[in-house]
Amino acid sequence: MRLRIRGATCVLPGETVRADVLLDGGRIAHVGIPAGARVDETIEADGLHLLPGVIDDQVHFREPGLTHKEDLSTASRACARGGVTTFFEMPNTVPATTTRALLEAKLALGAAKSLVHYAFFMGATPHNLPELAAATRTPGIKIFIGSSTGDLLVDGQAALEAIFAGTTLPITAHCEDEATVRANRARVEADAAAEGRPLVPADHIRIRDHEAAIVSARRALDLARRHRHRFHLLHVTTAGEVDLLRAAKADAVLGPLVTAEACHPHLFFSDADYARLGTRVLQNPSIKTANDQAALWAGLHDGTLDFVATDHAPHTLGEKAQPYPLAPSGMPSIENALALMLDAAHRGRCALEDVVRWTSERPAAAWSVARKGRIAEGYDADLVLVDLEETRTVRDADQITKAGWSPWDGARLTGWPVGTFVAGQRVYWRGAFDERERGSEVTFER
Ligand code: DOR
Repeated sequence: MRLRIRGATCVLPGETVRADVLLDGGRIAHVGIPAGARVDETIEADGLHLLPGVIDDQVHFREPGLTHKEDLSTASRACARGGVTTFFEMPNTVPATTTRALLEAKLALGAAKSLVHYAFFMGATPHNLPELAAATRTPGIKIFIGSSTGDLLVDGQAALEAIFAGTTLPITAHCEDEATVRANRARVEADAAAEGRPLVPADHIRIRDHEAAIVSARRALDLARRHRHRFHLLHVTTAGEVDLLRAAKADAVLGPLVTAEACHPHLFFSDADYARLGTRVLQNPSIKTANDQAALWAGLHDGTLDFVATDHAPHTLGEKAQPYPLAPSGMPSIENALALMLDAAHRGRCALEDVVRWTSERPAAAWSVARKGRIAEGYDADLVLVDLEETRTVRDADQITKAGWSPWDGARLTGWPVGTFVAGQRVYWRGAFDERERGSEVTFER
């Protein structure tokens, strides 16, 4: 089927222009359609903008094992609604994705259930080096150098050295230093006890503090440099890490090896929100200060941070209703994440072209994803049509993530996805889904 998208303003590499786009056989056949080209169906897109679909390299979709929070059907529908056409999922499911057999089982689930394209990280343990070394059908290896949700943790230096030395896949890491977090927790608990008060969500930033993030990031960058290993730093949260990365990128050895991201929770919340939102804004690494938030945006603008990701981490409201520190960390974000970025562009915080670079072009480049991340002939027809004029309020009740809530409940955002195309198929259009097709396994050019 040859599908024409007519009249949209297209964000192309290097220029934003009005052009008709023809999709054929899952690819972009033409940008600017030659006279006489066969067209089977036309979508009128006057007044809308066409962007390459969002590639989100950090999501937690909970299947297998935690499907009361989310599963690949609900999550991938939320992706389609949010303009996300490709996701990379993290390994802290139950069981965790620590063997090739478990990876293949997840890929089979993706093939059966996912409306959008999918990839799954391998999770590192202190003992699964042979599996990590032999894995291929994955973007890379995720190391929890600091613990978070689930039991994945590799904290020992010898095990970390072995993984960096013994594997060739890209490595990515959650960096919060365990020893620092442990010492902070003991101190904060003692302080709270002395004050005769329980721990509260605002204590999260004191326990998972700046130092914990910076010490751990420095350790990971040092490993990458000594082992000459490709490394991606997940969810940067502090001005100090941005400074570390700026130096790393200027380093002749480390520069070409390193990329980094900021996540929506840290770009759009600060410690001022703990009192307002309580356990809803618990996140690991913790939400930091307005000053850190400003450094993340500056880092994106000057290229120190390469792109954005959601860290979509759904937990039920029942789980979140537990008091701190029993309530789990993480928040659902995937269906509002592009709208948040479009709204940031609307408010002048960045340009529409920045949004495209940070949500699609750079993640594709960083992970060597084949044929995605731009609107260009021959690229995959993974696209999102957005209405930059539409203003809507985020509501818990409207969320389609199985978690059923959003930390942005009540936020009025301008700029929303209208339609999403996966491999040339319109899977989402103004609130309705076409679920006849499935996404594909992402392939990597490396
Ligand atoms: O807050 C978080 N939640 N951070 C993580 O690293 C994991 C995530 C989850 O899986 O819930």
